[in-house]
Amino acid sequence: MKEFQGKTAIVTGAAQGMGREYVRLLAEAGANVVMADINADVARKSANEIGAHDQLLVVKTDVGSIDACNACARAATERFGGIDYLVNNAGILSAAAHRSLIAVEAETYLKIINIMTHGMLWMARAVFPSMKARGGGAIVNVSSIGAYQAAGLYSMAKLGVNGLTINLAHELAEHNIRVNAVAPGTVATEGMQPLMSVEQMAQWGRMGGRPTDRVAGPEEIARVGLFLLSDAASYVRGQIIAVDDGQQIRI
Ligand SMILES: NC(=O)c1ccc[n+]([C@@H]2O[C@H](COP(=O)([O-])OP(=O)(O)OC[C@H]3O[C@@H](n4cnc5c(N)ncnc54)[C@H](O)[C@@H]3O)[C@@H](O)[C@H]2O)c1
Repeated sequence: MKEFQGKTAIVTGAAQGMGREYVRLLAEAGANVVMADINADVARKSANEIGAHDQLLVVKTDVGSIDACNACARAATERFGGIDYLVNNAGILSAAAHRSLIAVEAETYLKIINIMTHGMLWMARAVFPSMKARGGGAIVNVSSIGAYQAAGLYSMAKLGVNGLTINLAHELAEHNIRVNAVAPGTVATEGMQPLMSVEQMAQWGRMGGRPTDRVAGPEEIARVGLFLLSDAASYVRGQIIAVDDGQQIRI
């Protein structure tokens, strides 16, 4: 019996990068997975590459839209009978370019915070009725070690994710729903390619205090997320787990 056999997960931002890796690992472990992404064409291409066709469903979803999040949860329930897990992974890496909170245009600011922070709440609200009806579940939010830096809009959006994680973890405990977050360091994904080369990511990590030059592959992050979803983490609640090769030291 595979670890996630008979369970259903929604992964947002599932078309590429870390999201796609969550999908691959969850499907490999027996789960049905809804691939929720604003870019449905790329998500379908990834689904075809992963295989496991009976277990995967692509639903075009903008996590910044409450209606779209609700429609995604409905589609998951209709196809697979309910929802056990949510990986709130969708994010906009280019938000890191907006270092000045004074200068960033209000429209851009609101759009990015709505997708990166509020979107995780909209999805959590959308899956809640099904998880509650199933007697429990688990949510992993994807934060960043950028949350602990004063680097502008991206940092602020991810610190919001940490706050959401802690508060939802407490609020949903009575429904047997665990909420945690992973905070990755630098990960080589499609989304990072136009922003930084792998060499630059290595340098950035060193400058930020990482004792190695290693840049993570998406699997190294997603495996920790899967642990947090799994029963092996049954007593882990409301934690923000840094997965950054020692870059962020917190005592
Ligand atoms: N790559 C890194 O170094 C790194 C480090 C720390 C945290 N993160 C976080 O990890 C998550 C995944 O990052 P990645 O590197 O895989 O990014 P990526 O850009 O490769 O993939 C992001 C995915 O999210 C989707 N997406 C964007 N806006 C969306 C929306 N409104 N609704 C639904 N889907 C949407 C994109 O289409 C894309 O498929 C993000 O939350 C990011 O902030 C990344």
